[in-house]
Amino acid sequence: MAFSFKKRDLILIAVAILILAFLWQAPPESTSRVPFDDTHRRFFDLVKSDGKKAAEKFCEECHYPGGVPFPPGHPPKSRCLFCHKLTTP
Ligand code: HEC
Ligand code: HEC
Repeated sequence: MAFSFKKRDLILIAVAILILAFLWQAPPESTSRVPFDDTHRRFFDLVKSDGKKAAEKFCEECHYPGGVPFPPGHPPKSRCLFCHKLTTP
């Protein structure tokens, strides 16, 4: 009995890893990148020195429904840079 439980757990873990790997891979291919322009340039340095989480705090100063609006149906946006990669110059 103990053995078959372990086997099933391993299969569940393998499936979970596959799903995670898929989700991890999917966004960067289709999602627009953060442009390297006057508006966004400062974040490229900030990501390098302080990391993505530090830079993301500033995105919503401009990106909100009354400012630079999101396209309709935009996914939940707590981690901008998880989906929107920086442009590689
Ligand atoms: C000072 C205001 C401002 C801040 C802060 C800002 N943005 Fe923007 N962003 C803009 C404006 C204006 C545009 C549209 C014009 C452009 O492309 O520059 C834009 C466009 C974009 C686009 C779309 C580019 C495209 O291909 O059309 C993405 C993605 C983006 N911003 C991500 C971010 C992320 C992520 C952050 C935080 C790290 C951020 N922005 C911070 C003003 C800002
Ligand atoms: C879960 C993934 C995800 C997260 C997190 C996310 N976005 Fe998006 N975003 C998308 C997708 C998908 C689109 C639509 C396809 C595209 O235009 O890239 C989009 C579109 C946009 C656009 C319009 C791009 C264009 O070309 O017109 C902007 C601007 C934008 N997002 C900004 C942000 C900002 C700022 C944040 C953080 C507050 C954020 N996004 C968080 C996935 C995400």
